[in-house]
Amino acid sequence: MTNTESDGYTPMEYDADSENDETYQRCLAYLLAHAPIDPDDTVVDVGTGTGIVALELASKCDHVVGRDIYDEWLQYAREKAEQHGIENVSFDHGSFREPNVDDPVDVVVASYALYMAYDEGGEEELRAAIDGLASLDSRCVVVADKMRFGPAQSPSDYETLPPMGTVANLLADAGFTLTDVEIVSDAVGVLIATR
Ligand SMILES: C[S@@+](CC[C@H](N)C(=O)[O-])C[C@H]1O[C@@H](n2cnc3c(N)ncnc32)[C@H](O)[C@@H]1O
Repeated sequence: MTNTESDGYTPMEYDADSENDETYQRCLAYLLAHAPIDPDDTVVDVGTGTGIVALELASKCDHVVGRDIYDEWLQYAREKAEQHGIENVSFDHGSFREPNVDDPVDVVVASYALYMAYDEGGEEELRAAIDGLASLDSRCVVVADKMRFGPAQSPSDYETLPPMGTVANLLADAGFTLTDVEIVSDAVGVLIATR
């Protein structure tokens, strides 16, 4: 997906699919229950998409900053925030490599998004993405994402997912220690990494 095309997949369809995706909902529930977020924190959600996670986190902290490369979905996320009267969340263009955040950040979240860097450019792109998140200097990074806990994927699988160990090693290289790992399915999990 780029910032100019969505292959006809609308943000409304994405929200409906996510709502009905039991694995996504379990992953989101774990993230919301276990992400070490304090009430006065600023949280950045990179790859925020339609803002599902950002809008949920808004009630838990002082401010949520949503970043994505896909402007149409950012606009939809803004409209949802307005509809729900959520004022402590802002959405703007930003990528994993260049998150476009100047304010101090306490916690960084990436949900169902970081795997796209690996799918696009393998370990090198994933490393650049994680280094981009680490450049925000937060105390913690929460990766609630598609990653491989099981054996190698079959060649017919639609997306190429990073092995969990690769994500963990790249977080370690960026200066983080894993403090929590939750396996949601053999292709989805939550890693909480603390500096
Ligand atoms: C499957 S959606 C997930 C959205 C949301 N985080 C969630 O949990 O519902 C993946 C999002 O990652 C975004 N994305 C892909 N590559 C990105 C990059 N390099 N930087 C920032 N966002 C990216 C896409 O535009 C898309 O909105």
